[in-house]
Amino acid sequence: MPSFSRTAFAVPGSGIRRIHEIALRMPDVLPLAVGEPDRAVAPHVLEAASRAWLSDETDYTANAGIAPLRDAIAAKLRRVNGMPVDAEQVWVTPGATEALYLALSLVLEPGDEVLVPDPGYTTFTMAPRMLSAVPVPYRLDSARAFLPDVAALESLVTARTRAIIVNSPSNPLGVVFPEPVLRELLAFASRHDLWLISDEVYEAFTWGVPHVSPASFDAEDRVLTVHSFSKTYALTGARVGSLVVPSGLDGVLRTYQEAIVSCVNTPAQHAALAAITGPQDAVAEAAEHYRSNLAAASALLDELGIRYLEPRGAFYLWVDVSHASGGDVAHWAERFLLEQRVSVAPGSAFGAAGEGWIRVCAAASRETLLAGLGRLPRVPASVPA
Ligand SMILES: Cc1ncc(COP(=O)(O)O)c(C=O)c1O
Repeated sequence: MPSFSRTAFAVPGSGIRRIHEIALRMPDVLPLAVGEPDRAVAPHVLEAASRAWLSDETDYTANAGIAPLRDAIAAKLRRVNGMPVDAEQVWVTPGATEALYLALSLVLEPGDEVLVPDPGYTTFTMAPRMLSAVPVPYRLDSARAFLPDVAALESLVTARTRAIIVNSPSNPLGVVFPEPVLRELLAFASRHDLWLISDEVYEAFTWGVPHVSPASFDAEDRVLTVHSFSKTYALTGARVGSLVVPSGLDGVLRTYQEAIVSCVNTPAQHAALAAITGPQDAVAEAAEHYRSNLAAASALLDELGIRYLEPRGAFYLWVDVSHASGGDVAHWAERFLLEQRVSVAPGSAFGAAGEGWIRVCAAASRETLLAGLGRLPRVPASVPA
């Protein structure tokens, strides 16, 4: 057999998927590992998708997506995110996943470095590796309220650094970067002439704090913004997201999009159009469900004396299990699944800084969530000296 690409085989696997695949083969598991909204898709969105299928809207679309969807996304970005964009800057992608890949493809050469949050979403590490580039983790830890330390970032910059990925609200942490922090990060990017790739897929879910898009105050066109319909509209399997780029990149993006996916599934684009232009009650209902689930889960963890990070956004709880995980939380999460029948994502799947922590997805029924947390090992009472 001829040899395979070393690059392909060097891409790290997802530690969340690993747990999920084991859980799928087991009966009666309480599933809290995967970031899957548990809300139903709004009827008008499903109807739009069905109408598209039934009227045979199944041809290729423009590489960048159907014009009404690009217009609607651009209008929403101007109205809600304060981003001064034209529709021609908006590319409709198969989820944020491909938007991230396109953004990284646009800015990285082999061997280039991209600063990625640690802990951070798994794709932030996987996608640069697919491009023979190097993800360089920057720590988000309890010592700084899980916010980036710009002085530490400075020390990570080398002649090869090309970009920084910023994810607020954060998966897995649920932290939301306040505007001054985002401004500091943009100033840092500017000082070193870096691209700032802003992943905002959880923008619809913040708890008592505003979501801010760095592109709203980007005077230098250095922010590439990634959004998604997956979490906001519970449309994960429809695969629709978007990437906002500076003007003038049509040619290169058309080529990339053509060679990777050609275009997003046409009925899914119609579903996304209905979602973004139609009533937003389902989004508000989902937000209230996640918010109240997180509050109930936090109250239970308080009662159990288990440490966690108070979430400000997204629908995850970042829970400290270092009292039980013995320095190998990936192994512990697997045992916890096999013995307690609860799947959670081991923190180490999101980077070295996640060791000793787990991510619990609160986009679940209240009963499942509380029952799953109730099976966590208690913190042992400290032994008197
Ligand atoms: C931070 C973050 N970015 C991107 C994605 C990918 O989302 P999509 O379904 O839009 O590809 C996810 C999915 O969990 C995520 O958590």
